[in-house]
Amino acid sequence: MSSTSKIRVGVVGASGYGGLELLRLLSFHPDVQVTYAAGSQERDGTVADMYPFLSTYSHLQLEKYDVDRCADRCDAVFVALPSGASGAIAGQLHERGRLAIDLSGDLRLPADTYASWYQKPPVAPKVIAQAVYGLTEWNRNEIRGASLIANPGCYATAVLLGLLPAVKAKLAAPDRPLIVDAKSGVSGAGRSATLGGQLGELSDNFYPYRVGKHQHTPEIERYLAQFGLAEKSNEASHPPIVFTTQLLPAIRGIYASCYIPLGADVQVEQVVDIYRTTYEGEPFIRIHDPGKYPELKHVRGSNQTHIGLFVDNRTATLQVFSALDNLQKGAAGQALQNFNVAMGLDQTTGLSQLPIYP
Ligand SMILES: NC(=O)c1ccc[n+]([C@@H]2O[C@H](COP(=O)([O-])OP(=O)(O)OC[C@H]3O[C@@H](n4cnc5c(N)ncnc54)[C@H](OP(=O)(O)O)[C@@H]3O)[C@@H](O)[C@H]2O)c1
Repeated sequence: MSSTSKIRVGVVGASGYGGLELLRLLSFHPDVQVTYAAGSQERDGTVADMYPFLSTYSHLQLEKYDVDRCADRCDAVFVALPSGASGAIAGQLHERGRLAIDLSGDLRLPADTYASWYQKPPVAPKVIAQAVYGLTEWNRNEIRGASLIANPGCYATAVLLGLLPAVKAKLAAPDRPLIVDAKSGVSGAGRSATLGGQLGELSDNFYPYRVGKHQHTPEIERYLAQFGLAEKSNEASHPPIVFTTQLLPAIRGIYASCYIPLGADVQVEQVVDIYRTTYEGEPFIRIHDPGKYPELKHVRGSNQTHIGLFVDNRTATLQVFSALDNLQKGAAGQALQNFNVAMGLDQTTGLSQLPIYP
């Protein structure tokens, strides 16, 4: 593709963690040109001046968001603003004929469910109804050619990728909740300063938060039900989850340890086969051999999700360990993967970097 035929792309929320990661990833993408970057205010200097690690953006100003300028200058826009602001802006750009990919939770749930879990007024139901859920490996056919995409939450991505093969294969005992014990690095909360994010609070510390009310709970349950329907069965399976979220003294990473009560005897080798068959040909998913488990340092800085499995025959429980980088497969990486699929490009374009280690 010549530079004149490159896709013109914008990032709204470009000064946040998700937006900055998008700019970094877009710099590796041969088919795009970043033509617009905006936040909540006008700033002096270029993106490269403000964020020296983004030195390739010496031509790009960080502007105050304006719908007309954004729509004029872009074919596609990533919108990475806090929930409550993001979905409406994505809807506005979609209405103007642009591909809009929203990284917030605003377009992932029906309006009434959103209002009760996010405690914010929802976006217009007709906008929510037009959005396609961007869990790429499970919804690729819908994402292809879509023009409004609700990018999944970081916890929801790790948990759904980890649970769905077992739920779809009906391994879970009916009427028993699935237990999800999940941890996030502090960048999951965004860039604005909070007391809990300060080094003195975070270092050498570990604690749960939003117990019983984390907003990804209904997202996980909704899409487990939608994508977890067993083959050749109309019977919906809607396992509820018990979901605990905890803050890790780390910068990046989501680690979900999931416990599925088994409905029948099964060996770990059979489960590994089910998972490998489900994700066959998926470049961003790796299923470990029995006895091996993922670590955050195996995925950090990449769009990979690594999954490890164990069957505890003593208690008839399947343990699933799912690890990803919250800013990549949990946010910007999956958003770029969805952009590629929606535009008919190879899904890995701009995303083939290996993780960084240590
Ligand atoms: N962080 C993660 O790991 C992660 C993972 C998955 C999904 N998400 C979701 O992605 C979204 C962005 O998260 P983040 O972590 O990047 O947040 P963040 O670091 O707090 O950044 C928020 C961005 O939104 C901008 N902004 C806020 N209100 C705005 C407005 N009214 N108009 C224009 N720009 C506005 C801010 O601009 P200024 O700097 O100018 O104020 C900043 O660029 C959130 O909805 C979050 O839930 C985040």
